[in-house]
Amino acid sequence: MERTFAIIKPDATAKGFAGAIISRIEKEGFKIVGLKKMHMTKAEAEGFYAVHAARPFFNDLTNFMCSAPCIVMVLEKDGAIKAWRDLMGSTNPKDAAEGTLRKEFGESIDNNATHGSDAPETAAQEIAYFFSQLELV
Ligand code: PPS
Repeated sequence: MERTFAIIKPDATAKGFAGAIISRIEKEGFKIVGLKKMHMTKAEAEGFYAVHAARPFFNDLTNFMCSAPCIVMVLEKDGAIKAWRDLMGSTNPKDAAEGTLRKEFGESIDNNATHGSDAPETAAQEIAYFFSQLELV
């Protein structure tokens, strides 16, 4: 079983889409092994997205991520990393396929509803950034 890290971002959480997204996660066969609502600080958002520090949207992205609460999760399934990215759809909701979460719940490239790890190494790092072993059940 593979684990991935997922976020229901502040836009989707504020609009009350968390329940629908979590329901879809369960319908698609993921096991939720960790879940909490949190309000990131600017420093926590900058640490999380450090890999994007040189990109022009870094400040907008990190401001957005600490603008309101989000829901962070650890999801488990065979091939969870790819399966969760497929379920999210393209980064820009305008390019996302019908039936994906970003198509249904995303608004724009900067308010795109969800985040997911892109590889096993980043999944392990991102899970450890937000969760202790005791929180994963
Ligand atoms: S990806 O999935 O990593 O290939 O996507 P990428 O295009 O590299 O974007 C990385 C994250 O940055 C967010 N993003 C933006 N935020 C604000 N403004 C602009 N213009 C913008 N462009 C991209 C994008 O939603 C990705 O966030 P995460 O949380 O990693 O999905």
